Amino acid sequence: LGKSDDRPWDLAPGAFDREDESDDCAFYKTDRFVDHLDSTALKQIEELIGSLIIEESPAILDLMASWDSHLPSSVKASDVVGLGLNENELKKNGALTRCVIHDLNADPKLPFPDEAFDVVLCTVSVDYMTRPADVFRDVGRVLKPGGLYLVIFSNRYFPPKVVRMWREAGEDERVIIVEELFRACGAFEAPLTFVSRGRPRPENDKYSGLGIPSDPVYAVYADKLGGESGRRRPVPMRAFDEPAAGGTEERKKNVGTTLRCPYCEAKLDKWAVPQTPFTEWPNDFFYVCFNDKCEYFIRGWDSMSAQGNTGSYRFMYNHLKGTIHPLPVPSYGAFKDGIIDD
Ligand SMILES: C[S@@+](CC[C@H](N)C(=O)[O-])C[C@H]1O[C@@H](n2cnc3c(N)ncnc32)[C@H](O)[C@@H]1O
Repeated sequence: LGKSDDRPWDLAPGAFDREDESDDCAFYKTDRFVDHLDSTALKQIEELIGSLIIEESPAILDLMASWDSHLPSSVKASDVVGLGLNENELKKNGALTRCVIHDLNADPKLPFPDEAFDVVLCTVSVDYMTRPADVFRDVGRVLKPGGLYLVIFSNRYFPPKVVRMWREAGEDERVIIVEELFRACGAFEAPLTFVSRGRPRPENDKYSGLGIPSDPVYAVYADKLGGESGRRRPVPMRAFDEPAAGGTEERKKNVGTTLRCPYCEAKLDKWAVPQTPFTEWPNDFFYVCFNDKCEYFIRGWDSMSAQGNTGSYRFMYNHLKGTIHPLPVPSYGAFKDGIIDD
């Protein structure tokens, strides 16, 4: 990966090319005080980081840092070093105790001694590395044995500076790419993954009108080899998951009389069946749960993706046959124009 002498697989030439090969130091000189993700995704990232850091007063390296390190106040770090390219952004970062300007694409060797850190974070930035294998290997050097390397990413990025392999990969393939980077450098335990997608987009977000879910959060993480035997980090939770409601199966049996979703108990909407030349439904309408916060719909994003599909599905009840079905939907907004006012 990014190095010809020890690639774990053959990569097409140009896998690490970028549309904009101009000097990164010059490009990132311009201040960008932006949120890279919506607030739901950022909250998830903060909780993920908080749940995985179990060290007391850890020394933390924030790789490719900007003005926000996403560290929750529960993490009481002894030192937080931000390595990035924009001095003003790093100075604005209240979590940092030190800032280091260093171009990882020009020199992937980290300017720190061996075993200097307990935790290394890299948030929404791994896709900008042109020599990721070398960087990952060096993260293995600067971490203490058993230290945590946590790489977080989403599906938003600035295309001209992102490597071609990332742009051409699907979202699940990107998880595999990062897992492979962990494995290839031989410094870490088997990497673990975390995925949260399909949450409702915050209403005040500038893209909320597009009918798309909140930005997905993917993470791949592992401890450096040689840590305390038997020590385990907690399995991170998805921040917004409610415990699965009991009694769903019972409620499914009664949908015909309650006309409520058995998963979230919201009232089902009458939904006019679209008549197209390809479908001939005997029904004029079905009953559908259009609650965007319904756990069935939210979990549907993951199940559809696991089957190689996009979108999610909503709970649907066919009152003529007394049967229940998933109604595949490509977006949050899809089919809502078919809701019939009662
Ligand atoms: C999308 S931003 C993410 C910033 C921050 N990690 C966060 O979560 O908000 C990407 C960051 O990577 C840094 N970066 C890009 N190319 C870099 C390079 N060659 N060496 C070091 N840092 C780089 C930039 O300074 C920029 O702040």
